[in-house]
Amino acid sequence: MLETDNPATTVKAHYDDRATNKRDRDSPWYELFRTHNWVKSALIAEFASSMPKKGGQKRLLDLGIGRGGDALKYKHAKIDHVSGVDVSAMSLLEAARRFLALGLKGTFVARDLQCALPPKIGTFSRVFSFFTLQYCFRDLGTTRTVLKSISDALEPNGLCIMIIPDQSSINDPGDSELYSIERVDEHSYYFTMGEAVQRCLEYSISDADLTRLAAEEGLQSTMTSRMDEFIQKRWEVCPLRKRMASTAFPDVHRLYRIFVMRKREGHLRSTDCTKV
Ligand SMILES: C[S@@+](CC[C@H](N)C(=O)[O-])C[C@H]1O[C@@H](n2cnc3c(N)ncnc32)[C@H](O)[C@@H]1O
Repeated sequence: MLETDNPATTVKAHYDDRATNKRDRDSPWYELFRTHNWVKSALIAEFASSMPKKGGQKRLLDLGIGRGGDALKYKHAKIDHVSGVDVSAMSLLEAARRFLALGLKGTFVARDLQCALPPKIGTFSRVFSFFTLQYCFRDLGTTRTVLKSISDALEPNGLCIMIIPDQSSINDPGDSELYSIERVDEHSYYFTMGEAVQRCLEYSISDADLTRLAAEEGLQSTMTSRMDEFIQKRWEVCPLRKRMASTAFPDVHRLYRIFVMRKREGHLRSTDCTKV
């Protein structure tokens, strides 16, 4: 495939351009992103705290780490080292800067996740991927590649925690002033949400297809929840909710779905990695 045919090139330029943008606290999206952060904090706290140490350390992999917006959450969860992958080199530079400022150790790899990860990335008991894989599920081939990369990077019984678009909601988005969805076909659409995402081509996959393809790569879906329902459930029991999050914007939160997948014991690690 020619580099210019690859939608990742356009997405990379989009995120490279925004790598050092500051969030406008007065914008209507600010509160929305605070709630996204609260959801990610809850997931990191829950799944990183139960994480076994290896060689006395807690190390995890973040696919689509972006500009390291979750660095502080990882620090609070007492993570020792984060390996971060992203297609945007400029975002990785910003992530490295933030990690350094927080005294958090990280390794950063510029990579298109539609291609196999290099085996030297290592194996982990946790892989996190937030708001990223919608750019990578372009077709059956790239979806399988992403899932295989996750499976190869996970130790037996390791967990992958991802937030991706909820296909049913994307197909029936309703009216919202906060975002727009321009449908291209059944699986792809241009998504715009304020300054953060401007007309990026994204791909959705049904829960059933994701669960089936993941199972072929040795990943068993153990929990899934639409993000608005997750927020609703956690809302009553979270002491920090008023400071960190809001139940406003349910129409946006329902666009996303949380998946937790467990790597099956006995699933063989692939050795035939594609060279890109
Ligand atoms: C919405 S941001 C999410 C960043 C971070 N996970 C967060 O939650 O703040 C999406 C990230 O996915 C990255 N991305 C998009 N397409 C990618 C691809 N094909 N391979 C690797 N990273 C990709 C972008 O560069 C961007 O940093």
